[in-house]
Amino acid sequence: MSTACVLVAAGSGTRLAAGSPKAFVVLDGRPLLVHAVERVLRAGVCDQLVLVVPDGRQQESTALVSGLPGAGGVVLRAVAGGVDRRSSVAAGLAALGDDVDVVLVHDAARCLTPPEQVLEVERAVRAGAPAVVPGVAVTDTVRAVAARAGGAAGPVDRASLRLVQTPQGFRRDVLEQAHGAAAEHGLPQALAATDDASLVELLGTPVTVVPGREEAFKVTRPLDLALASAVLAQEGA
Ligand code: C5P
Repeated sequence: MSTACVLVAAGSGTRLAAGSPKAFVVLDGRPLLVHAVERVLRAGVCDQLVLVVPDGRQQESTALVSGLPGAGGVVLRAVAGGVDRRSSVAAGLAALGDDVDVVLVHDAARCLTPPEQVLEVERAVRAGAPAVVPGVAVTDTVRAVAARAGGAAGPVDRASLRLVQTPQGFRRDVLEQAHGAAAEHGLPQALAATDDASLVELLGTPVTVVPGREEAFKVTRPLDLALASAVLAQEGA
């Protein structure tokens, strides 16, 4: 029995507009990918790490992280990602070793996720939850706009909402079944799913929410890089 992390890092980073794929954008002298892997390794729970990167950057990616503290004891692989996040996760799943029974799926874009969050998600799966996501409370007022005909418009009770982060943790069989079903049936809900927990839930598996952390925000837009830089400066202070 062992735990693997599938780190998806194959996004183009169009919204970041930094001129290179997002995971390779440099923050404080190191690519986001390296910051993300460093924190995953510090959690000390992963026996395998699969980096899902833009095609052609596999070797470069393993070279970037293989010397990090803790990498020595971890089976490291890099594979090419797909056209969307879901197919990138599927590519990572296909590269897992046989003995893996728990999978953490993590966005490289959440590059400053504290190791404690990785640890807590893994522990919750090991404790028996088939699917676990970290979530943080919503602080803004939220309003639904009727994006689709018949959709309800109006204020939404934010107390019942959580912003969902990664890593998301799963029993391997549950996650593989969800991805298999999504690929096979191409259901509209599966195509619209923006994370793995949503896919798993389509099969009726309950999803457990554990407390997330603000530092696990996703670097998406240029302002997020400024925030990430400030977080690093605070860590080093
Ligand atoms: O696009 P978004 O920011 O939601 O992507 C979340 C994560 O999924 C990022 O770490 C990104 O690199 C990854 N991704 C991927 N393959 C894609 C699209 C996104 O690995 N085709």
